[in-house]
Amino acid sequence: MLRTGSGESHIKQVSYSLCNICAYHSLRHLVGDLTMMFVNFMPSITASKGYRGRETVARAFVDYYDNKGHESGSAWAKNRFNVSIKNGISVEDTAKFECGGGIAILVNTVPSVFWMLYHVYSNPLVLEDLRQELSTIILTTETPDGVPIHKIDITQIKTGCPLLTSTFQEMLRCRAMGTSVRQVMEDTLLDGKYLLKKDGIIQMPSRVIHTDQGIWGRDVDQFDHRRFTKDGLESARKRGDGAKRPSPAAFRAFGGGHTLCPGRHFATTEIMTTVIMFVVRYELKPVSGDWAAPTCAKTNIAATIMEPDTDIDLLVQPRVGFEDASWGFGLADSEMVFAVAEEDMRWPMKRSEIIIKALDSIGLMATTKRTATTGFGWGKDRLRAKRGAIMREVWGFNRAVR
Ligand code: HEM
Repeated sequence: MLRTGSGESHIKQVSYSLCNICAYHSLRHLVGDLTMMFVNFMPSITASKGYRGRETVARAFVDYYDNKGHESGSAWAKNRFNVSIKNGISVEDTAKFECGGGIAILVNTVPSVFWMLYHVYSNPLVLEDLRQELSTIILTTETPDGVPIHKIDITQIKTGCPLLTSTFQEMLRCRAMGTSVRQVMEDTLLDGKYLLKKDGIIQMPSRVIHTDQGIWGRDVDQFDHRRFTKDGLESARKRGDGAKRPSPAAFRAFGGGHTLCPGRHFATTEIMTTVIMFVVRYELKPVSGDWAAPTCAKTNIAATIMEPDTDIDLLVQPRVGFEDASWGFGLADSEMVFAVAEEDMRWPMKRSEIIIKALDSIGLMATTKRTATTGFGWGKDRLRAKRGAIMREVWGFNRAVR
């Protein structure tokens, strides 16, 4: 819960739309009762809160579609609606599907923002480090009447904020608790010694992997915001913390393989931008005076990020020197991605390289050679065209392949 520290104008800045709060709480009820909803035994009674929550969210979506809200919404909102309708799905059922989409979109991002704010503000050193780093990418100009305008380019966050990115990864390492589950399709021998039998089920709990001293070192239980930076390992070693170089393969917050979270780039950007706005503009202090970490025992089965069992009541005040200004984000054209999952990682990996990797995995790269000049070596025009078509279809890009 946020409480304002000074003045009416500030209240406006931190207030949420009542409607969003209502839908969000309904969604939370749905998530909370999800296990019983799956059991599906008289859910209106056995999972009454979740059942009613789903009705509320679905009704809100029906209103949204009836009022043509999606037509002025994002391409994503429009396309999802159009695909459903084109395939004969009613507006009512489309609205219900969106309840599931809402779970994927919100259930992990909201607690991620919570934990980022918690870890950043509960340690003045982390807050200071991030403010220092962010000050290097804020572009400040002025309106004719002297009001500052601050702009942040998201591309620059990707290239110029290794500490923020590392803090984000460390938060995910410490707070992720999802379990990737796979079924074995045929007998498979791993590493010459582990036989996985056909039809067996493999479970890969990220919490176990993320807290393994053998992988992360003796300081595995500490939150080290520099752990994932290049110099972080070096300084931890100097401190004698027994730190180890983070293994990209052991970072499982977004899962991995074919079902690697497709929303990870979107999630990373929205979490980062929200947290940045707090860090550069506000001071947060717990009303109780103490940043006591909430327990997470009630975290729902659908979540892969721990959910705090209780709120932290906060006093929110504008940061001195940043009270009256306008703020904005921009996005310069760039091939960079936030590379936090192993699959994205060749520090930093370009979007074109990810595509090559994807094409590799479906066997197309093997038929061509790379050239020293472009590093691509697209080979025959026919293949090039085919790649372009695949790329546009799979990745939704509208730029031609070069
Ligand atoms: C911090 C935020 C998020 C975290 C930690 C997260 C984590 C995960 C994990 C662990 C998986 C399972 C991967 C596996 O099977 O190994 C997953 C799957 C998925 N996520 Fe996310 N996710 C996040 C945000 C999002 C967002 C914002 C979206 C949508 C915009 C999204 C959409 C999906 C979808 C559709 C799948 C299923 C993929 C499939 O089965 O092929 N996620 N996510």
